Amino acid sequence: MVEVSDLVCEDRVHRRLYTESDIFVTEMERIFERTWVFIGHESEVPEPGDYRTTFIGRQPVILSRHTDGHVYVLLNRCMHRGALVCRQEAGNTTVFRCMYHGWMYNTCGALVAVPFPGGYGDDFRREDYGLRMAPRVGSYRGFVFASLQPEGESLEDHLGIARSYMDLIVDAAPAGTLSVRSGVQRYTYPANWKLQIENLLDGYHPNFTHQIAFEISERRRGTSGRKGNTEGSGATARSFGRGHGALHYSAVQRYRWDEAQGATAEYRRAVEHTLGPKRAAEVLGADVQLFVFPNLFFQNARQHFRVIRPVAVDRTEVCAYPYTLDGAPEELGRQQVKGLAWWASAAAFGQPDDLEAFVRCQEGLQVTSAEWVLFARGTHRERLVEGEIIGDVTDEVPQRGFYREWKRRMVDPTKHG
Ligand code: FES
Ligand SMILES: [Fe+2]
Repeated sequence: MVEVSDLVCEDRVHRRLYTESDIFVTEMERIFERTWVFIGHESEVPEPGDYRTTFIGRQPVILSRHTDGHVYVLLNRCMHRGALVCRQEAGNTTVFRCMYHGWMYNTCGALVAVPFPGGYGDDFRREDYGLRMAPRVGSYRGFVFASLQPEGESLEDHLGIARSYMDLIVDAAPAGTLSVRSGVQRYTYPANWKLQIENLLDGYHPNFTHQIAFEISERRRGTSGRKGNTEGSGATARSFGRGHGALHYSAVQRYRWDEAQGATAEYRRAVEHTLGPKRAAEVLGADVQLFVFPNLFFQNARQHFRVIRPVAVDRTEVCAYPYTLDGAPEELGRQQVKGLAWWASAAAFGQPDDLEAFVRCQEGLQVTSAEWVLFARGTHRERLVEGEIIGDVTDEVPQRGFYREWKRRMVDPTKHG
């Protein structure tokens, strides 16, 4: 067993967290296979027979809408000899037919046909060989989560304060729901998964890592003097328990809902009509980056969420899904999808800068004479406000929160569902 308690201190973590395969395996068992993990959005599987495949940690799963209208999370593993029963990323079907010997399962996982059944005795009962299911499935504002643990805290308790941030993001849709049907930007990189998570909550790096991208962006817009990621700007970095965290740029309004992004008066009126002026101002003024432990990230200013999938200790896949706001003008959605491609696709202006940083960290962390990775920034100026630990946007507040939860779950997994 890997001894992990000495590898995470309040203001630093050990390099072994990024380089050791044993620790990676333990993370999958104690974090991903025990906690609530985001699976997909309900709008991705609107009709009976719709499905899409993904993973909980290393384990392949299928999110499927059955004819009873319910959503199921099925383990994608044939009960005959173990092959995936669904090899497609998404689609619509009445049955999942295993490519190996043709066993067929319906969209709620029941085994409905076995070729040449005479080869099995009279005591073979198809109902004993349905696909395994995630024992717990829950949904919040259309976002479906599942847990491989039969017992444990509810999804609502797990999300905690993150729910109010999800509300802020989803309430921007005049109809109160999002749609996730605009494709995906996918990238992989040869470095540890936690480097991406640290980075999504890192308000310290952008002015340096993305200097050129910002210059190009400002030239296109005809603006200058980007605000936000400087110390003392008024933007904040936050942590609010169970590893969740956020960067809150609402006070500096970087580029949310400007006219160039198609936020028309018609759209604003629709939001005000739905929410009333006070909540509408809050929602339209929101510029937040939210991380939901262990692997879901939202950036509402670039209208998308990302799912971080750990593949190996030094290999990670990230999928960025643009979403559109139901009830908002189509032009707004088109602009946002384009904006995401410009910044966060594998060949875009922003994301490759971060990937370069992750790969360089993975290389640098091979040095054994320097053991610690430092997350001490802003420790002296944290403050606690209504359950949120808040610091300057350039402080490492959310990273400290992430590693507190990481340690809690890695050290004593039996206590946490
Ligand atoms: S492994 Fe699926 S039918 Fe044999
Ligand atoms: Fe970045």
